[in-house]
Amino acid sequence: MAGLAPGERDAMEIALGHAVRFRDSMEGARVPPAADVPEMMRRFRTPLAEDGLAAAEVIDTIGRDAVDGLNRMGSPNFYGYVLGGSHPVGVAADMMVSAWGQNCGSAFETPAMTAMERAVCDWTIDMLGLPTESGAGLVTGASVANMVAIMAARNALLSAQGWDVEVKGLFGAPEIPVLIGEHAHSAPFAALRYAGFGAGRAIRVATDDQGRIDPLAFSEAIARCTRPALVVLQAGQINSGAFDPFEAIIPAVRANGGWVHVDGAFGLWLAAVPDLAGRLRGVQLADSWAVDLHKWLNAPFDAGMVICRDRAPLVRAMTARGAYLPEVGEQWEPSDSTPELSRRARGVPSYAILRHLGRKGLREMVARHCALAARAAERLAAEPGISVLNEIHCNQVAVTFGEGTEGDGLTRKVLAAVQKRGLVYPTHGEWRGRQIMRISVICYATQERDIDLLVEEVISAWRLIRGGKE
Ligand SMILES: Cc1ncc(COP(=O)(O)O)c(C=O)c1O
Repeated sequence: MAGLAPGERDAMEIALGHAVRFRDSMEGARVPPAADVPEMMRRFRTPLAEDGLAAAEVIDTIGRDAVDGLNRMGSPNFYGYVLGGSHPVGVAADMMVSAWGQNCGSAFETPAMTAMERAVCDWTIDMLGLPTESGAGLVTGASVANMVAIMAARNALLSAQGWDVEVKGLFGAPEIPVLIGEHAHSAPFAALRYAGFGAGRAIRVATDDQGRIDPLAFSEAIARCTRPALVVLQAGQINSGAFDPFEAIIPAVRANGGWVHVDGAFGLWLAAVPDLAGRLRGVQLADSWAVDLHKWLNAPFDAGMVICRDRAPLVRAMTARGAYLPEVGEQWEPSDSTPELSRRARGVPSYAILRHLGRKGLREMVARHCALAARAAERLAAEPGISVLNEIHCNQVAVTFGEGTEGDGLTRKVLAAVQKRGLVYPTHGEWRGRQIMRISVICYATQERDIDLLVEEVISAWRLIRGGKE
């Protein structure tokens, strides 16, 4: 019987050892990589040798050489971008997914993967309060989820006008107006490009000081549209965390035959927390939603979900069945609602995390992050010379230092100093004409003491810079 060769077994065990040691090294460690890109290129971008190396040696060398070039994104002190911390329970499940080697495009071939992924879709749809009968697909992240949803919208809006876009393409198709907030994330603009709508022809609707679409500006813009529109809204502005006014916008758009898509990469998770869900009132009325699993659920990269109220246009837009695959029917085929035919079972780690946290654990985590973001904002804003530019809608904090153009330079300096010390790791952004330090509280492990360290690090860097000592 062909089992694992001794070297292969060693390789897997060595990999596990490196993985566990890395995840165990977060406490008190510097967050950013110790080595830079040229150093990593020197170690890894070598000529490929003619002769292969032993399995265990390859894995051990990779494990040892990579560690200096890793960012501790799973650390409670990582506050950059908007990234989850790859929950260890999800990582453990992900290891099994790799070992199982399932191509989970077809339910018939990989029933265990399909059942777990289907459960993740059901649970997520339920927790977010979205329509139970929605179709869903597990994709690499919110970028692809936005793209897939917009392609489903394209299918539905054009077929309502007698145009089968899957057969005829877009040349000669009736025009579809597209409306989106001027402070939407770059991902839905990219999705509009991928789907052939063009980012440049989208009507960018004015927003308020939190980046929320202004309902008056929206109603003026939609009134000028002569056909049913595709409207892209946002649950969680990347800098402010704010939510578009769903209730004021969605019903009218849908009543006129339009399609509303919501990019809820991270912010949609607030819908799972009864005390906070009111901030997204009306979001459930939309036609489609994009949400990340590798953000607030803290699933390992990469995992996101596209959800469509009406599954039919989603499947019409995505199905790619060869003659060797089962007929399109009632059976939930994972590949029917994603662009990939072959893919890993990226929903399985989320299954494990959800089983581990339960509904209560998820609610508590999201609520804790929001409370911690408010704590960080309050304490930072109390320091002279530090301003918080946003209201705290969820977990994002936009911080500036000093005033105006001089302040932009100071903000860059403070961020660089904090990142150089590396005990905590916020990243940069631009908001309302200012350079900002952006703090995203989203790692499953982050607690009050971590936020206190963050505040201490940021304030002491600011005091040194303000006093001209750095
Ligand atoms: C609001 C929003 N939309 C979309 C994305 C893109 O998500 P992903 O990087 O998972 O593709 C992000 C990422 O930060 C985001 O914050």
